[in-house]
This record gives sequence, structure tokens and C-alpha cells, in this order.
Amino acid sequence: MRRVLCALTAGLALGLAGQALAADSPENLVKYRQSVMKAIGGHTGAIAAVVKGEVSFGAHVANHARGIKDMSLIVPDIFPANSGPMDYADTGALPEIWEEPAKFKLAVSAFQSAAAKFADIAEAGDRQAIADGLGALGKTCGGCHKPFRKKKE
Ligand code: HEC
Repeated sequence: MRRVLCALTAGLALGLAGQALAADSPENLVKYRQSVMKAIGGHTGAIAAVVKGEVSFGAHVANHARGIKDMSLIVPDIFPANSGPMDYADTGALPEIWEEPAKFKLAVSAFQSAAAKFADIAEAGDRQAIADGLGALGKTCGGCHKPFRKKKE
């Protein structure tokens, strides 16, 4: 346990440097990226459950929205050059991410703006605005997934 904690602490210290180390393996980079995307997907799914009225945790929407906004800030970091399908096959990321960086950057910034806007809307708490805002946010997920993510079989 102690050793695990030490490793974690060391890892956190390195993380504070704010950059992926060149030595990070493609497999680990892909898995890390997928964890971040799962977190974004988890928050989005939770908000959708509230919006659909499946659960009455309306007060949680702002927390989830902040989570998405926070994750949107690290999305530019999670596509390093050595994490593409040529480096590790078991990824949903398409080569176009690295072949068309300007276009990809636009998709990232559209998502970041929508996430920031949605966090404000969620904070304000108006139900209809939240439902509409979720739709607008969701469009920016698709705006990246469509051109840059493999279709599911
Ligand atoms: C700038 C591009 C981009 C944006 C914006 C984006 N995604 Fe993704 N997402 C990807 C890519 C690329 C993958 C495939 C990652 C991989 O497999 O390496 C992915 C994968 C995922 C996955 C699957 C993770 C896994 O492997 O289990 C989920 C869930 C997901 N995204 C949800 C979302 C949601 C919800 C949003 C919007 C709120 C969103 N994403 C916005 C690019 C994006």
C-alpha cells in the first residue's frame, strides 16, 4: 500500500510538470485518452438522465457541467503524436487527427466553447435552457467524433 502511495505521489509530482513524458507508451496514452473520454461521456449521460426526468438530481447538473468543462481543458493534451492508430491499433482515433491538425483544432475549440457556455447555463439552472444547451454541447461531440473517430461496427 505504502509503495503504491509513493508511486502515486511520484506520478502526481511528475504530472504537475504538466506534460506527457516522451516515454509514455502509445498503449497507455490511448487508454488514458479513453478514460478522459469516458469521464466526459459519464457526465454527459448523467445530465441526460436528469434532463429526461429519469432522476431528480437537478442540483447535480452544474457539477457535471463543471466536470465536462474541466475535461475540455485537457482534451488538447490527449492526442500526442505517438498515440495514433499507427502506434497502437486498438484506438478509435482516426489518422485524420494528425493529418489535418488545423481542422482538428477547430473541433476541439468548438467543444471547449460549448462546454464553457454549458457550465454557465447549468449554473443558472433554467431547465429549458439546460435541455437546449445539452443539445448544443452534444453537437460538438459529434462535430469531432464524425470526422475523427472510427465508426462503431
Ligand atoms: C476533439 C474531438 C472530440 C470531442 C470534442 C469529443 N470526443 Fe469523444 N472521442 C474522441 C476520439 C478521437 C475518441 C476515440 C479515442 C480512442 O479510442 O483513442 C473518443 C471517444 C469517446 C468515447 C469512448 C471512450 C472509450 O473508449 O470507452 C466516449 C464515451 C466519448 N468519446 C464521449 C464524448 C462526449 C460525450 C463528448 C462531448 C460532450 C465527446 N466525446 C467529445 C474525440 C472527441
